[in-house]
Amino acid sequence: MRCPKCLLCLSALLTLLGLKVYIEWTSESWLSKAYRGPQGTPLGPTPATPEPTLPANLSARLGQTSPLLSAYWNQQQWRLGSLPSGDSAEAGGCRAWGAAAAAEIPDFASYPKDLRRFLLSAACRNFPQWLPRSGGGQVADCSGTDVPYLLLAIKSEPGRFAERQAVRETWGSPVPGVRLLFLLGSPEGERGPDLSSLVAWESRRYSDLLLWDFLDVPFNRTLKDLLLLAWLDRHCPGVSFVLQAQDDAFVHTRALLDHLRALPPRWARSLYLGEVFTQARPLRKPRGPFYVPRSFFKGEYPAYASGGGYVIAGRLAPWLLRAAARVAPFPFDDVYTGLCFRALGLAPRDHKGFLTAWPADRTAEACALRDLLLVRPLSPQGSIRLWKQLQEPRLQC
Ligand SMILES: *[C@@H]1O[C@H](CO)[C@@H](O)[C@H](O)[C@H]1NC(C)=O
Ligand SMILES: *[C@@H]1O[C@H](CO)[C@@H](O)[C@H](O)[C@H]1NC(C)=O
Repeated sequence: MRCPKCLLCLSALLTLLGLKVYIEWTSESWLSKAYRGPQGTPLGPTPATPEPTLPANLSARLGQTSPLLSAYWNQQQWRLGSLPSGDSAEAGGCRAWGAAAAAEIPDFASYPKDLRRFLLSAACRNFPQWLPRSGGGQVADCSGTDVPYLLLAIKSEPGRFAERQAVRETWGSPVPGVRLLFLLGSPEGERGPDLSSLVAWESRRYSDLLLWDFLDVPFNRTLKDLLLLAWLDRHCPGVSFVLQAQDDAFVHTRALLDHLRALPPRWARSLYLGEVFTQARPLRKPRGPFYVPRSFFKGEYPAYASGGGYVIAGRLAPWLLRAAARVAPFPFDDVYTGLCFRALGLAPRDHKGFLTAWPADRTAEACALRDLLLVRPLSPQGSIRLWKQLQEPRLQC
């Protein structure tokens, strides 16, 4: 060995080189792990976002590979060309669809009353707008110069005045590019107090109530979705995004706008964003919540965004309407929306900032909400408290 020092130098150099390569490699993989695109959605090579399509035969799309399933929904979907569009009880009319369901489902009489009522009128989807008899209250169209970037379309019920007012005073208060509308059924109700004159006053005062003449019960929520889509198609076709939420949600509007503006355009075009449930199954406990009888539906639900609040791309409105005409009625509005998206070949995107089942024992706090987009349920009082905290310029977390 003529130059032991040279060898020492060489090995030191090699070690250093190895170390450098190692550091670069680890920091790179750390970066690619840590650098995430708009909150929670991994950036980088993403699957191509498909454009909506509606094949002539939806069976494969909706996961149906055999006509032999004995459940009524599955059979209907297999056979369904499109739902009747008429309102009459004649053959092919929407009431006839319900009457046939009642006759063909062997244990229909044992279904919960609400589900029976739902099925009897489930194919009836054209309802006129409800307008105060005393006039006024018309919701303005989106005019050419005033097309909202984000429409907040909030499902409420006539008697929930405080919930609506809390939304108006907090996260639904006017912001450029954002418009607020509430979706309701008839205030005349059934067996309940007649709220027409109170709702008529509210409608004239705020011009933000879209009312239709159907009974406002949870099993009729899909009507609000479909009638909203039809309204958008005719009166507000240019809207970029629509948030569909319940009136007990709290939306961090500014954060949601930031998130939407940062979305890659290819995602934004076919957006269906929220708290996504994959592989949810129907609940089979009679008298339990969300009960679905085995004779009505078999299989898993499609991946769908929780109905507590989700965002869709406005340009999908006509597509969703066309899909809905060919997807057999289902009692839960959010599952039904999931089915329609699946029929179009579009998948929901999950976002961790949507918490649609905020635990009741957790007080909603501004600091916890800073990084979230939507939480529910909150009381009107809770929403107002939270809103005040969020406005606090010295908010320290
Ligand atoms: C629809 O597609 C399924 C296969 O997914 C096929 O078995 C069925 O015959 C098709 N129905 C019609 C009406 O073409
Ligand atoms: C939904 O509204 C329609 C029209 O008012 C009504 O006939 C139907 O019974 C309602 N559905 C339920 C489940 O009550």
